[in-house]
Amino acid sequence: MVQFAASRMLLTMPKIAVLPGDGIGPEVCREAVRVLQVVGRRFDLPLEFHEAVIGGAAIDAYGVAMRDQDFAMCEKCDAILLGAVGGPKWDDPEARVRPEQALFKLRFGFKLFANLRPVRVNPALIGASPIRQEVLQGTDLLVVRELTGGLYFGKPSKVWKAPNGTIKAVDTLAYSQPEIERIAVTGFELARGRRKKLTSVDKANVLSTSRLWRQTVTAVAKKYPDIEWASMLVDNCSMQLIRDPRQFDVIVTENTFGDILTDEASQLSGSMGLLPSASLGNGKFGLYEPIHGTAPDIAGKGIANPLATILSSAMMLRLSLDQPRAADALEGAVQRVLEAGHRTADLGGTTTTVDMGDLVVKELHAAG
Ligand code: IPM
Ligand code: MG
Repeated sequence: MVQFAASRMLLTMPKIAVLPGDGIGPEVCREAVRVLQVVGRRFDLPLEFHEAVIGGAAIDAYGVAMRDQDFAMCEKCDAILLGAVGGPKWDDPEARVRPEQALFKLRFGFKLFANLRPVRVNPALIGASPIRQEVLQGTDLLVVRELTGGLYFGKPSKVWKAPNGTIKAVDTLAYSQPEIERIAVTGFELARGRRKKLTSVDKANVLSTSRLWRQTVTAVAKKYPDIEWASMLVDNCSMQLIRDPRQFDVIVTENTFGDILTDEASQLSGSMGLLPSASLGNGKFGLYEPIHGTAPDIAGKGIANPLATILSSAMMLRLSLDQPRAADALEGAVQRVLEAGHRTADLGGTTTTVDMGDLVVKELHAAG
């Protein structure tokens, strides 16, 4: 009986794949794992971690950005925590293997078509943004970025020499109606759980894919009469984001637009070092990563902000592991650390990566 209970526990113990990657990835992941272990103990949730090398580090070690066996390991897990991939060392435009291929393998391979990037203005950090406080106050938006289509995956995508000697390049922006439908549904459903407002962002005055996007979202919207929604052109949206960010609740958009708009939106929160993300498909399985990238200029210095990765772990607890209380506790701990005035270098402070992890751990203990 005891044995049965023990083996059952092992079977149900959530497994997390940890893919630190390159640059500051390993530094911030280390803190997130440490914090997750503490959360696990506090909430009686034993977590199992499985680490693998991806990105530039994997190119150096194995010649590929992600090995099939490491992908298979992720497949056996309930969620993935990822640092960041890439860096100048692997940036040769002629290279056939690129660190980013690991990301695309994960996103496409696990059909993680919905990338959720929440942007909130934290009152404790309102002074950190380059935007005026009265414009920012109360900003709380969620970008839902389509993640497995568009320019990132369209074929052909190549550089070649034309017969007359001119070098040419092409990328392909393609979307199918079902691809747009499912991300629109995700956006509307999420809006339902929030302030019931959705903005669909496209470039329908120029692009055929955007016209299909607009038509499809308009059809999906008919099933959501409770949601107030509108389409907006992406160039206008990039302006509105800094002119009046409070007008947005959920923004749903295609892959490339979402990539660009979320870097812009990160400045509302004060720093890229704060923004978490979740990439989901149809089930609970998800990929969680900070949106900031590898930050090669500060890698190895121990000064990176681990909060985006720690907050990504909170999203993991909520969305993949069904642990909303643990997620709340973790987010609460981060909030108190910021309210106490601790800041990493990206926010003008001197708190180190490890100290930030320690502070969050201390707050978790203090709360329970
Ligand atoms: C992101 C990043 C990636 C992307 C890069 C690293 C390929 O910028 O997740 O936003 O463009 O999707
Ligand atoms: Mg990006």
